[in-house]
Amino acid sequence: MEDVIVIEGGRKLNGQVRISSSKNATVALIPAAILANGPVTICDVPNISDVESLSELLSALSVNVVRRSRDHIVIDPSEMKNIPLDIPAVSKLRASYYFMGALLGKYKYVKMKMPGGCYLGPRPIDLHLKGFEALGASVEYSHGYYEIKAQELVGTKIFLDIASVGATINIMMASVYAKGRTIIENAAKEPEIIDVATLLNKMGAKIRGAGTGFITIDGVESLSGCFHEIIPDRIEAGTFIIMAAACAEKMTINNIIPQHLESLISKLEEMGIQMSIDVDSITIEETKEIKAVDVQTLPYPGFATDLQQPLTALMTKANGTSSVRETIYPERFKNCFELQKMGAKADVYNASCTITGPTPLYGELVTATDLRCGAALVIAGLMAQGTTTIREVYHIDRGYDGLDEKLKALGAVIYRKQIDEI
Ligand code: EPU
Repeated sequence: MEDVIVIEGGRKLNGQVRISSSKNATVALIPAAILANGPVTICDVPNISDVESLSELLSALSVNVVRRSRDHIVIDPSEMKNIPLDIPAVSKLRASYYFMGALLGKYKYVKMKMPGGCYLGPRPIDLHLKGFEALGASVEYSHGYYEIKAQELVGTKIFLDIASVGATINIMMASVYAKGRTIIENAAKEPEIIDVATLLNKMGAKIRGAGTGFITIDGVESLSGCFHEIIPDRIEAGTFIIMAAACAEKMTINNIIPQHLESLISKLEEMGIQMSIDVDSITIEETKEIKAVDVQTLPYPGFATDLQQPLTALMTKANGTSSVRETIYPERFKNCFELQKMGAKADVYNASCTITGPTPLYGELVTATDLRCGAALVIAGLMAQGTTTIREVYHIDRGYDGLDEKLKALGAVIYRKQIDEI
């Protein structure tokens, strides 16, 4: 039997929704916490399965994790043991690779299986490994395991060929205890990187420049426990904003940082979407005539690759031909094939797609092939006439906290059931 999400589409959404904390910050903050020598308290932790997987990894390392309340965890690494990480949780998410930087930084040794995560085409980690090597580590890969070790880690200048989020965070974590100064040039600038640097600095690290392309890390001797609140999830916020543009009469999305969403907001303005933006919320009203747009994904502050898939659902409602050009993950278009089943005129080319609208969508049996494809299908299901059944929902549960409850509160008809595996 398999769990599916069922959506009876065509209902107008109304009301307010509160955005949870950032998944992509959380999945780095949890491994970063093990760098401390005392308890780290993180509050507003999203209730997503990626957090469960990371908690399993912490338990495997004998790190004590106490849930003070549903969204408030204390991570205490005082009794930690640096054993090889080979439990199935490693393969459930990409972010398990943050244990490489954290364990290498703390113990100068890490052995772990290849990390997993959504298949979006090739997702190499060569820049992470080159960064570790530049700090003085040796990297070996054999029989599915990475073994990374160093006599000592020494700060150096590291230029990233690509401004990679994961490599930037991993190198920051590996270098907090290194001797001297590490400089990351062409660092990624995503807000999640600032959040991780903020946590590490609260612990006593000396990281400057996070959020710019030039980050310096001055090694320290010891890091202590601290308290941290995670930033709101800009991708969940963007998903709800796109959803509101697609099927709300009037919807307010609360607990957002509008500055993190500028590229999306300006694209939606170009589409003619009615929005009013406040300090930490945005209200979207129903727009009858939506214009087609062209989107190119880029590293932050450019248009986020994680939001182009949800946007393709809205594009089916726009007048004319819209396009998406992917510069981060050229194969991130599986959502288009699922949308085609629902009636979308979507064509996928080399690293790009076009969507010609407006076309009505019809309920269908579709598959969430990855997390953001799942988000696109939820939006499409809400827009569609009839009943949409979404398979492989574990992808969606990896990154969207309380999605069903949030949607029900907005007036959607959404529920889960079990079907026979096909
Ligand atoms: N890249 C390399 N070598 C590397 C690392 C990256 O060639 O060593 C390439 C990638 O193949 C990609 C580009 O550099 O073409 C950027 O990748 P990046 O390292 O920035 O991505 P990531 O850290 O693996 C994070 C998010 C993704 C998000 C990307 C881009 C997390 C856990 N994941 O991945 O989020 O799409 O940044 O913004 O933070 C999602 O939330 O659905 C998701 C996939």
